Amino acid sequence: MADFKNKVVYQIYPKSFKDSNGDGIGDLRGVIDALDYLADMGVDYLWLTPFFVSPQKDNGYDIADYLAIDPHFGTMDDFDALVKAADAKGLKIMLDMVLCHTSDQHAWFQRALAGDADYQRYYILRDGCNKTCADDPGEPPTNWQCAFGGSAWQWEPRLGKWYLHLHDVSQPDLDWTNPTVRDELAKVVRFWKERGVAGFRFDVINLVAKPEVFADDTQGLGRRLFADGPHIHEYLQELVRSAGIGDMVTVGEMASTDLENCIHYTRPANHELSMTFSFHHLKVDYKDGDKWALMPPDMMRLKQLFAAWQTGMAKAGGWNALFWCNHDQPRIVSRLGDDKEYREASAKMLAACIHLMRGTPYIYQGEELGMTNAGYTSIADYRDVESLNYYRILREQGKTEAEALTILTARSRDNGRTPMQWSAGPYAGFSTKEPWIPLAKNHATIHVEAAQRDEDSILAFYRRLIQLRHEMPIIAEGDIRFIEEDNPDVIAYERTWQGEQLTVLCNFRPTDVHLRHLSLQDFADAQKLLGNYPGREECLRPYEVLALYRQA
Ligand code: NOJ
Repeated sequence: MADFKNKVVYQIYPKSFKDSNGDGIGDLRGVIDALDYLADMGVDYLWLTPFFVSPQKDNGYDIADYLAIDPHFGTMDDFDALVKAADAKGLKIMLDMVLCHTSDQHAWFQRALAGDADYQRYYILRDGCNKTCADDPGEPPTNWQCAFGGSAWQWEPRLGKWYLHLHDVSQPDLDWTNPTVRDELAKVVRFWKERGVAGFRFDVINLVAKPEVFADDTQGLGRRLFADGPHIHEYLQELVRSAGIGDMVTVGEMASTDLENCIHYTRPANHELSMTFSFHHLKVDYKDGDKWALMPPDMMRLKQLFAAWQTGMAKAGGWNALFWCNHDQPRIVSRLGDDKEYREASAKMLAACIHLMRGTPYIYQGEELGMTNAGYTSIADYRDVESLNYYRILREQGKTEAEALTILTARSRDNGRTPMQWSAGPYAGFSTKEPWIPLAKNHATIHVEAAQRDEDSILAFYRRLIQLRHEMPIIAEGDIRFIEEDNPDVIAYERTWQGEQLTVLCNFRPTDVHLRHLSLQDFADAQKLLGNYPGREECLRPYEVLALYRQA
């Protein structure tokens, strides 16, 4: 089995990472140019989000050819060169496999549209409800909603059926009950394995197994009916077997999942995945569970979720992927930290809070610089299909332009997709041409060059966290217990391993806070392994983190 407990993964969104050919779009050669920076940080794996041929309706998560590289990103030679150059620096590549749906431009869907019955069985096609005659589409087969707003069904006159799309209308879902589909997808995974990658991230993989009976969701928008559906565990075991990836690092993106399923996905004896991404901790500021309704983060809920998932996975031998940021999330420093006065302190605290837990940490490009939300002020700045759809939906619901923009400013996925900030130069050193998406407003001050000049930078702090995970088995292997459970101001936990103890205290407030059940005096004999302020005081200072280590 692959080694992943003491490793750190760095996520690259190639379109926004580094542009080597001056077209305003990041590319694979750009990633090669940045390998020294990445190796110097100390990360082990690079997960690249999709760069396959795609009409880019959902920035590459709508794949038209799984086995070819989109010319915007480069060529197969560039990819091979990347694997080789990364390997020479001790970095391994993980690819993103989008096996739940294809683009409607994929040859399989095109053949289905052209009338090929075999390919029609690749997708999920159904008759409508309440049809009055043979030609009448009727109404969508169920009331399920797609992730980007609106019905999950699209009427297609060429098929005389509705097709299911749990994401954009241009992303028809594949039918995993068809063994030929599963076989084709395993071949895709094997193809990339044979090109030298070391691991895979599987996009919304727990949505591939649809319910046996398609019925309206009487309590919601359908998610609970199609997440972690029947046969999902068998499908994953089969994929791992037939693609031959049992010894590779794999992570599944699990939408609306639960702890029990994630334990099952990740227990080594089950031969499914190395680890899972779950998202409950990133919904604690969704009012009534609605991403598009703002509310301050519910700290007690955040604490309870971490405690339940960390200790639950540990008890049952499962493994978490640890993360705050990715290309679908607003920047964490703008969300749970303070992206102004305490940007540096809060970015460091948030980093330590997650990196010292039990699991494998993921760093999303720019997080190590404390990159913030975009600060866009006009709808014309946005590119993301979900953001544009929801802007329209919010306006239709009666929100003013200003109200809708305020919501997007906090919640849009484009907050995480602004170009990587390399320098104070033109376009932040990302490109020589205007980037495909506007830069974040503060790009002139927050960038790699500034971070590299400062030995106390957020980047230096991340480097240290990575080094600690590599060197200290207590971080990779230790047990975890949450403390200060009734204190809404801090997240605090204790790791233990072979007589060692590591206590991590994180202040989530912009003010001094006191612990309720412990005193910092109790740690007088402990070594300060890591912190974001000089020395120690009796209280935790604004956004202070302390990692205190001792041998029992
Ligand atoms: C999750 C990906 O992270 C997201 O960017 C994408 O839109 C959906 N899956 C659909 O593939």
